[in-house]
Amino acid sequence: MGLFDFLKSKSKEIKLEKLDLSWMQGDMHSHLIPGIDDGSKTLEESIEMISRIQNYGIKKIVTTPHIMSEFYKNTPEIILGGLEKVKQGLQIASIDIEISAAAEYYLDEFFLEKVRNGDKLLTVHKNHVLVETGFVSKPLMLVEIFFELEMNGYKPVLAHPERYQYLAQDKKLLHELLDRDIFFQMNLLSLTGFYSRHIQTFAELLVREGKIKYLGTDTHNHRYLDALENLPESKYYDKIREIPLFNTHL
Ligand SMILES: [Fe+2]
Repeated sequence: MGLFDFLKSKSKEIKLEKLDLSWMQGDMHSHLIPGIDDGSKTLEESIEMISRIQNYGIKKIVTTPHIMSEFYKNTPEIILGGLEKVKQGLQIASIDIEISAAAEYYLDEFFLEKVRNGDKLLTVHKNHVLVETGFVSKPLMLVEIFFELEMNGYKPVLAHPERYQYLAQDKKLLHELLDRDIFFQMNLLSLTGFYSRHIQTFAELLVREGKIKYLGTDTHNHRYLDALENLPESKYYDKIREIPLFNTHL
């Protein structure tokens, strides 16, 4: 064992390797606007989490509160109003980081209606719209909603595909989405085993096969960031740096 390997193994034992996400530049999936979804609960918590994310080398944050018809009836006005409060808090705390807001839209009939009506959607970058589904079964209108988004000039970005059981079990659907060039956004935490061993395995497969266009922290609270700090232990920690990501264009 060379000195470098020795030091590396030692640093892993005592968790010395500091999480470095500077190569990603931007994080485009998080829940950092207080009190409007299941993410941050207070402004103070938001500021602390943003400071931690900045310490990982992230230069730009696009935070993405849930918009879900039944649970989180957020609107662009609510989200952008919350963003202003966060910006003021950052200024008071003298934290200098670029932050904007979009949304994580839950795919349901309410959303489909919104798209059909031509409502303006919040985008993470250019025309890229972050969307999520339930974790267990495939939404009935999945492909139709993607089609409708495209017809209205949007590019769907599927949040954390590795977490959807229906997608892991349906290779045909997986390839249909990839053939349609639906962008996949993977959660970094999936590589740490934070969600489950199955999700980690599926995430690793998607990385190996080069299917990822965006990476995100999907930070909801400090527990997520505590777990994220174990990412340097993943055997994919170096590999994900080679992915040509849209994150660097945010
Ligand atoms: Fe999320």
